[in-house]
Amino acid sequence: MERDSNEHLARDGAAAIVTIGVVGAGTMGGGIAQVAARAGLDVVLIDQSESWLDRGLVAITADLERLVTKERITDERRDQILARIEGSTRIEHLAACDLVIEAVNESLPTKIEVFTSVSDIVAPEVILVSNTSSISITALAGSVANPERVAGMHFFNPVPVMKLVEVIRGLQSSDETVATVMALAERIDKTPVQVADAPGFVANRLLLPMINEAIFCLSEGVATAEDIDRVMRLGASHPMGPLALADLIGLDVCLGILEVLHGEFGDKYRPAPMLRQMVAAGRLGRKSGAGFHDHGGG
Ligand code: CAA
Repeated sequence: MERDSNEHLARDGAAAIVTIGVVGAGTMGGGIAQVAARAGLDVVLIDQSESWLDRGLVAITADLERLVTKERITDERRDQILARIEGSTRIEHLAACDLVIEAVNESLPTKIEVFTSVSDIVAPEVILVSNTSSISITALAGSVANPERVAGMHFFNPVPVMKLVEVIRGLQSSDETVATVMALAERIDKTPVQVADAPGFVANRLLLPMINEAIFCLSEGVATAEDIDRVMRLGASHPMGPLALADLIGLDVCLGILEVLHGEFGDKYRPAPMLRQMVAAGRLGRKSGAGFHDHGGG
C-alpha cells in the first residue's frame, strides 16, 4: 500500500516535470539533453564555456542529422527536438527548471561548486541529480540544503544508445526523490536500476577492473591491443573489446574512476602503470585522436 502510494507520487512527480536543466555540455551532458528533448521535455543546457556549449549543440545536431539520413526521424521532428534545447552560459537560466542534472568534470570540488550554485538559483524542493560515475552522492548531497532531494543518475556512453541508467540512492535521498528519478528515467526511454551509494556503483566496479587487467595484459606483452579486444568480442560477445571501450570512455576518466576504487577497495583496483603513462602523454582515447587504438588524430 505504502509502496503503491510512493509509486503514484513518483509517477506524478516525474509527469509534472516540464523543464530540466543539464549542466555540462560535454559528451554525457549533450547526450542527456538530447534524450530528454526527444522524450518531449524542455531542456536548458548550461556550460560555462561558449565554445564547449557550441560543441555540445553541434554534436546533438549531428546525431539527429544522422537519424534523418537514416530516415528514422523527419526534418520536422529534428527541428522540434532542437527547439526544445536552449543553450546558455548563464547558470541563472536554470531558475525555472523542475529538476537539474549535473554532468560536469568528475571532480568532487567542481561538482560541489555546481550543486551549491544551482541550489541558490532553483526552488528549494527541486530535485538535484548528479551523473557522477564514481563520486559519493551522499557527499554531494551534504553540500546543499534539503539533501533528501539529491540522487544520482549514472548514464552510459553513448547516451542515446545505452539503455541503462544506474539510479543512486544517497544516505539521505528520500523515497520520493528516488522514485521520481526512477520514473523520469523511464520517461526518457531508459531502464533504471536502483543501486546503493557505493564506490563505482555496480557498472564501473565491474567494468573498470576488466579494462585495467586488459591494460596489464597489453603491457606484459600477453597479446596485442587488437587481439585483446578480439578475444573479448569473439570469446565473450562483448560489443567492443576492453581497450576500445577504454578509448571510448576516455583514459583520463578510466584512471579517475580506478583511483577512487583503489582508494576504497585497495590493491585489486591499482591502476596499471601503462594507463598512467598514456594519460600523462595526453593519449586519452577517441577524444584526443589516439589511445590504445588510433582514432585518426595522432
Ligand atoms: N551517438 C548516437 N548514436 C550512436 C553513437 C553515438 N555516439 N555511436 C553509435 N551510435 C548508434 C549508431 O548510429 C547505430 O544506430 P542504428 O543501429 O540505429 O543504426 C548503433 O548505435 C550502432 O552503432 P554502429 O553500427 O556504428 O557500431 P556498433 O554496432 O559497433 O555499436 C556501440 C557502437 C553502441 C558503441 C557498441 O559498440 C557498444 O555498445 N559498445 C559498448 C559501449 C559501452 O559499454 N558503454 C558504456 C561505457 S561505460 C560508461 O559510459 C560509464 C562510465 O561511467 C565510464
